[in-house]
Amino acid sequence: MISFCTAGPEHLPAIEAIERACFLDPWPTSAFLSELEHDWSWFQVALVGEGAEPPPVRGYVICWIIPQDMHLLNLAVHPAWRRRGIGSALLGQAVDFFAGRGGGTVYLEVRQSNREAQQVYHRLGFTPVGRRPGYYRRLREDALVMAMRVPGRAVPATPRRRQPGESRWS
Ligand SMILES: CC(C)(COP(=O)(O)OP(=O)(O)OC[C@H]1O[C@@H](n2cnc3c(N)ncnc32)[C@H](O)[C@@H]1OP(=O)(O)O)[C@@H](O)C(=O)NCCC(=O)NCCS
Repeated sequence: MISFCTAGPEHLPAIEAIERACFLDPWPTSAFLSELEHDWSWFQVALVGEGAEPPPVRGYVICWIIPQDMHLLNLAVHPAWRRRGIGSALLGQAVDFFAGRGGGTVYLEVRQSNREAQQVYHRLGFTPVGRRPGYYRRLREDALVMAMRVPGRAVPATPRRRQPGESRWS
């Protein structure tokens, strides 16, 4: 069973190991640390145990929530854990959260050659809306821009007060 939680410093070693396994131009530690701090960043990990306690991190998603827009910055699943729905589930969590915040348009960039990720996005309802020539500087390549409209979902009028130590996204 997959569970999800807000990323914290304790997850960074596993996140960075997955990042290095997934990308030839991995994010540096400083980039992940910034995303843990930004108020506008929605950074979640997917945990799958198979008996291990606590369950290990198998994937993560990072989005920026901007009024009426959500920008997907990073999505990755450990190579040994792919094709089990973890990537789609992470993206689904992000989209659901965004819907609860009023929705709008979700944007993302994906390498032109990354057909696997494009397939995941297409299955979830994203469509190509443009191209950014030379967007990826390392291993130079164009980005395909994909987008999806997300209708807003009603949320309680008076949000519960956050408890000490509780994540802002709980
Ligand atoms: C893209 C990525 C996050 C997908 O994660 P995942 O957990 O394997 O994706 P899912 O299991 O949710 O796949 C959902 C569907 O997408 C499609 N899909 C996923 N991977 C695919 C592949 N390698 N080839 C063809 N279709 C694929 C399939 O239709 C799949 O459904 P199915 O398994 O029932 O056929 C993962 O491949 C990854 O981490 N890639 C490297 C990092 C990356 O490219 N990130 C995106 C940057 S923009």
